[in-house]
Amino acid sequence: MGAFKLLEQNNLSLNLIPVGVKEVFATGFAPCPLYYYSDNGYQLYKDQGHKLSKEDLRELLVRKSWILFISFDDFIIFKNYYREQLRKVTRSLSVGNSIGNVKKMTNLLTIHLGMIYRDPTDDESLSLQYQSIKTLIGFILDNKKYLPELYKSVEEFGHFYTYSQPLLSSLMLMGILLHTQIFNNREIELLFITSYFKDIGMALVPQENYLKQNLTSQEKKTIKSHGQNSLKILSGRISLGQNYNTIIANHHIHSHIDDNIKLVSDKEIMGIETLFLAIADMLTAMSSTRPYRKSMDIFESLKYLKTLVSSEYPQEFKILVHFISKFYRSKTK
Ligand SMILES: [Fe+2]
Repeated sequence: MGAFKLLEQNNLSLNLIPVGVKEVFATGFAPCPLYYYSDNGYQLYKDQGHKLSKEDLRELLVRKSWILFISFDDFIIFKNYYREQLRKVTRSLSVGNSIGNVKKMTNLLTIHLGMIYRDPTDDESLSLQYQSIKTLIGFILDNKKYLPELYKSVEEFGHFYTYSQPLLSSLMLMGILLHTQIFNNREIELLFITSYFKDIGMALVPQENYLKQNLTSQEKKTIKSHGQNSLKILSGRISLGQNYNTIIANHHIHSHIDDNIKLVSDKEIMGIETLFLAIADMLTAMSSTRPYRKSMDIFESLKYLKTLVSSEYPQEFKILVHFISKFYRSKTK
């Protein structure tokens, strides 16, 4: 490689940041110059404004190129594009094909959450995410029959798992809460928001750690403290109340991060709300693929969960089994 080329590559490697190909392709065009990495270093993939087709996406996925790169300075262009799209769809949710609009909204919410993970101090993005989530909850409460279909569509987007897990687990939680018929709409809204933002502390964990199966004890410690970190990030920005903050701080007291799954039966911490929230989180995680493991069948996951909760919470577990059978029947229709 010549000296000029070497300098150019060095400059690119200092300035480029990774973005998921699915994030990029959801725009339909290149909002800024896009790069890819090959054996010859960073190469320009598409210039700004270039149309991105389904064939282009297929070709990248066949090559197992899951990420592209953009300049750090262009990240704001990228973020502004998604903010604007999310605002637009949130404002006009019930205009025309509402279920189509809501699916689009959940896709944008997931991508936009990924951007908050990259900059959790961004107040404008956090507030937009919060307002859009509230609109989404209102829509589902008025159109409950769409819940399984929405869950399925979020699964099918196939975004990076840390970005899609909050929405999937919150949709699952909402289904469980509605199924119990003991929570009112306001309680469901607060628990959905609690569940959705409980993992935002993951923003402090480097993304590459989520790709590894074997973590160092320090890396495990940072991941384990994400509940407390979520509270720090949300403090003074999204206020949910003390009870919900306690749920966020303790939502991993069962800790499945180090494969030592154990539900702690402290009734003070493990109110039925925390129990359902933790169960929805675990079921969603176990039944989804991770870069380092395959997904587990939902009924296998349920069987596993049975060993943890059914002796102490038999009624709740019965409700859960009934809900899951109904939910998965409608989801696969
Ligand atoms: Fe979590």
